[in-house]
Amino acid sequence: MGRKYKVGLIVGDGIGPEVISEALKVLEAIGAPIEFFEIDAGLEYFKRTGRPVDPEGLEEARKAGALLKGPLTTPPGPGSMRSVNVFIRKVLDLYANVRPFTSYDGVSLNEFDLVIVRENTEGLYSGVEGRAGDTAFSIKVITRSGSERVIKYAIKYAVTRGYGKITAVHKANILKESDGLFRQVFRDLSGEARATGLDIEEMFVDAAAYWLVKDPSRFGVIVTTNLYGDILSDLAAGLVGSLGLCGSAQIGEDVAVFEPVHGSAPDIAGKGIANPVGAIMATAYMLEYLGLRFNDEELKRASHAIKHSVRKVIESRTSLPPDLGGHAKTNDIGRAIASEAVRKMTEQ
Ligand code: NAI
Ligand code: MG
Repeated sequence: MGRKYKVGLIVGDGIGPEVISEALKVLEAIGAPIEFFEIDAGLEYFKRTGRPVDPEGLEEARKAGALLKGPLTTPPGPGSMRSVNVFIRKVLDLYANVRPFTSYDGVSLNEFDLVIVRENTEGLYSGVEGRAGDTAFSIKVITRSGSERVIKYAIKYAVTRGYGKITAVHKANILKESDGLFRQVFRDLSGEARATGLDIEEMFVDAAAYWLVKDPSRFGVIVTTNLYGDILSDLAAGLVGSLGLCGSAQIGEDVAVFEPVHGSAPDIAGKGIANPVGAIMATAYMLEYLGLRFNDEELKRASHAIKHSVRKVIESRTSLPPDLGGHAKTNDIGRAIASEAVRKMTEQ
C-alpha cells in the first residue's frame, strides 16, 4: 500500500449527508487511501456561530490540497446568509469549475463526452452591483489574468484527458469589451493549444446552447465565462438525464474542491431517494486529481473503477433512482456501485 492522503470533508445540508455517505461507502469498499477530516459549515453551523464555515478547517483543507463537499443551502433574499459556496470559492481562489458530462446509454438524450470549464471567480458574478433610483446594474468584470489562468487550465485539461477539441464560448459580438478581452486572451493562447494538436474553435453562447441540444458530440472541452458556464452546465446536466448524475471539480492553485453539481434539494431531503451518483462521481474526480498530481497509479485505477461502476449500474437500468424514473433508494444505488467497483478493482 502506498501513501495515505488527508482530505477535508463538508457533508453539507439537505440531501448532502445522504449522498456523501454513499460516496464514502464506495471509497471505503475499494480501500481508497483517503483519510477524511470533517469541517463544520452550512446553515446550522451559521445559526450557531455566525460564520459560514470553520476557518481553521478550511485552512487545513488548503494545506491538505483537497476537499470533498456536499451541497450547502443558501437562503434567498436581502439580509440573509451569504452563499457559503461563493465564500469557499473566494477564500481558496478556486478559479476553474470543471464539469464533465458524459452520456449514458438508454438514459441520456444523445451520445457525447464533453467538459465545461467555467471561469469561477469573476465575470457577472464579481459582486459589482448597484442601484440608482429605478435603474439597477451588475458589472461584468473580465481580467486578462483571470481569463488566462482558466483558459490555460482548460487547454491542459483537454490535452491530459485526450479531448481533441477546445471551444471558447463568449458573446464578443455584443459585449465587445468584456467578452472581447476573454476572446483576445483565448486567441493569444490558441497557438500554444494548436501546437499540442488540439482543434480550436470559438462560438457565441446562444449558438453553443443550440448546438449542445442539437449535437453535443461536436464538443470536447468548452471554456467560458462565469454566467454562461453556469447556465450551459445545467443544460448539459439535462442532456445527461438528471442533475443528480453529475459531479464537478473546482480547481485552485494548490487545492481543489470536489462536489456534486446539484444543490441541497430540500424537496426530497430525508426521504432516502436522492441520487448519490453526482457525489460518487465527485470522488472519482478527486482520486483522478490526486493521482495525476502525486503521480499515484493506484488512485488513477480507483478513479477509473468508480467511473466504470457508475456506468455499469446506470446503464443496466436495474437500480435507477426516482429522478431517472425508477424506484431505487439512495443506499441501494450506493451499494450496487460499491460492489461493482470492488469487482472491477480485483479484476484489474
Ligand atoms: P437543487 O439542485 O437542490 O434541486 C433542483 C431539483 O433537482 C429539485 O427538484 C431536486 O429535488 C432535484 N435534485 C437535485 N439533486 C438531486 C439528486 N441528487 N437526486 C434527485 N433529485 C435531485 O437546486 P435548487 O432547488 O435550486 O437549490 C436548493 C438549495 O441548494 C438552495 O439553497 C441553493 O442555494 C443550494 N445549492 C447549492 C449548491 C452547492 O452547494 N454547490 C449548488 C446549487 C444549489
Ligand atoms: Mg448553477
